[in-house]
Amino acid sequence: MPLDTLKIKKEFPPIPDGVYLDSAATSLTPLAVMDAELEYYTDFRANVHRGFFKEAVRATERYEEVRKRVAAFIHADPEEIIFTSGATESSNMFVRMIDESAVVAGERMEILSTVMEHHAGLVPLQQFARRRGLPLRLIPMKGVALDYEEGAQMITKKTALLSVMLASNVSGAINDVHLLAGLAHREGAIVVVDATAAAGHIPIDVQQLGCDALYFSGHKMFAPTGVGVLFVKRELLEKLSPSVFGGHMISHVGEQVSEWAEIPSRFEAGTKNIAGVIGLGAAIDFLERHDVNEIHGHVKELVTYAVIELEKIPGVTVIAEKDPEKNIGIVSFVCAWAHPHDVAEILARDNVAVRPGHHCAILLHAALRIPASTRASFHLYNSKNDVDMLVESVKKACAIFTQ
Ligand SMILES: Cc1ncc(COP(=O)(O)O)c(C=O)c1O
Repeated sequence: MPLDTLKIKKEFPPIPDGVYLDSAATSLTPLAVMDAELEYYTDFRANVHRGFFKEAVRATERYEEVRKRVAAFIHADPEEIIFTSGATESSNMFVRMIDESAVVAGERMEILSTVMEHHAGLVPLQQFARRRGLPLRLIPMKGVALDYEEGAQMITKKTALLSVMLASNVSGAINDVHLLAGLAHREGAIVVVDATAAAGHIPIDVQQLGCDALYFSGHKMFAPTGVGVLFVKRELLEKLSPSVFGGHMISHVGEQVSEWAEIPSRFEAGTKNIAGVIGLGAAIDFLERHDVNEIHGHVKELVTYAVIELEKIPGVTVIAEKDPEKNIGIVSFVCAWAHPHDVAEILARDNVAVRPGHHCAILLHAALRIPASTRASFHLYNSKNDVDMLVESVKKACAIFTQ
């Protein structure tokens, strides 16, 4: 069912002339999210977990309420939620926490991930593998999906850690994380999931996925920039050492050694992005009001339409997951007649906002034997009319470059 995009657009600041098809880079911000941040700055500006004055108490209550909201949003417990600055920090922190703890040791010798990962997921693993002298193996793709047969072969008793994204930020493909996590757990591996591209597009249920850890950024799901989440299952979190040290995360400090606070405080050193966290709570309210399933239903129609119309243009190859059920709302494409940067520049003249490049997924592009792609990404405020404007503009680019 298409959503009433005209009504939805009124919940956002006016979108400048044109079409915004870059939500996979960052979503637009609902007015309600800005209001929530402003309310914090105007009505109860104070640090959290520190003061006893009424603003400090209110700020702490709101901050901790959001922890509960996030936990419910992904079917976790509040103690399992760590606030970070975004997916990149979450991913780096998690890998460092694993590295500094004794949870990966002995017989387990391999780290497993996929060629489709975003660099934020992949590069910390590479660094970890280098520090420990461990092999890092990558599950290949079959078309734009993961090669599950190969993946099943690659998950063995040696697998210490499996890191896999829930959905690709290039092809939109939704991965069968439940399947891979089940195989990895059978061999005793730890499973971490990058849910950054998926958050706000499909429901996230860490119980159903069966992962040990999962992370995402707020700014791709209507929250402000600079706030993110790292979920780690309690039984694993209890075993992990913190990787960032400072105020709030300690229970006692001696001259030479210190003791850590309870979870999750142990993993939230220093002053966090309080306004961002409060904005994240408002973003979840917004998402739940519009229903993530409804959003996916709406976006699916745009994906179907965009794939059909783009493929009619000579020289255009779509590299998206074409089954809309398995696509979070991304249609990337390459044009035989021009580099993605040139295509995006022509589109920008028509105020069609897309992203050209490798989208921080160089290995995915290498696997598809292309240097880069042009990515159109959809969210609940986009309409069929937006797809028409995209397609018209790509036709115009085609005419310019092939004349
Ligand atoms: C799938 C995926 N993972 C991780 C990231 C990194 O997110 P951030 O830049 O917000 O830290 C992104 C951002 O593009 C992404 O799409």
